[in-house]
Amino acid sequence: EKIRPLIAGNWKMNGLSASLSEIALIAEGADAHSQRLDTLICPSATLLVAAGARTAGTSLAIGAQDCSSETHGAYTGDVSAAMVADSGARAVIVGHSERRQGRGETSADVKRKAERAVEAGLQAIICIGETEEEMLKGATQDVLLRQLQGSVPARSKSSSVVIAYEPVWAIGTGRTPSIDNIAGLHAFIRTSLIDLLGEEGRRMRILYGGSVKPDNATEIAGIEDVNGALVGGASLKASDFLAIVKSF
Ligand code: G3H
Repeated sequence: EKIRPLIAGNWKMNGLSASLSEIALIAEGADAHSQRLDTLICPSATLLVAAGARTAGTSLAIGAQDCSSETHGAYTGDVSAAMVADSGARAVIVGHSERRQGRGETSADVKRKAERAVEAGLQAIICIGETEEEMLKGATQDVLLRQLQGSVPARSKSSSVVIAYEPVWAIGTGRTPSIDNIAGLHAFIRTSLIDLLGEEGRRMRILYGGSVKPDNATEIAGIEDVNGALVGGASLKASDFLAIVKSF
């Protein structure tokens, strides 16, 4: 049976209270597609409560961009998964490349974050992806398999874990892999997930992320084993994000 797509927007370190009107516009537009797919916007932690309030009663879910690998305690500046859930958010992105490469997070860290997220009742969106150097060396599949083995908690369920494949070199660059490459790597991720998780791996959503825009979304949406998108830049404008939603 068909896997229900998820179109997620990652606002990264963008957006202030004034941007909540954009989230309200996205929620209004997303409702028309809620029979077919799920939508999610991940604003900054400071906007989670207000974004949840603005979208209450709509089909748009709100998520965070990260959470702590610890449950609570003396971790100044960190936000726990339980705090994210308490804000009204339903999901959290973990292991984004801007945290793996930019902040030195390891797959072991990412796995612990995903475990905390699922324990708190959140959907964990676990990001994986190769750097340009790894891609040029022909190491992409090795890197993805290692990240999956290292970051996906044992016995993960398709209802609470989502994988996002984001080639690091495609993030924010306007460059994307060819359609054949995306298809091949998503098929590889699917096979690896089935090896790791059995039937749950067959049903788990695999999102593509990296320069998804309204003008390439239809082609990407048509690829088997692409079960949605993780959208950065194009999620900041309601019209762009909704155009991508319509493509799926
Ligand atoms: O999480 C989102 C990704 O990093 C993609 O960002 O759509 O701006 O390339 P982008």
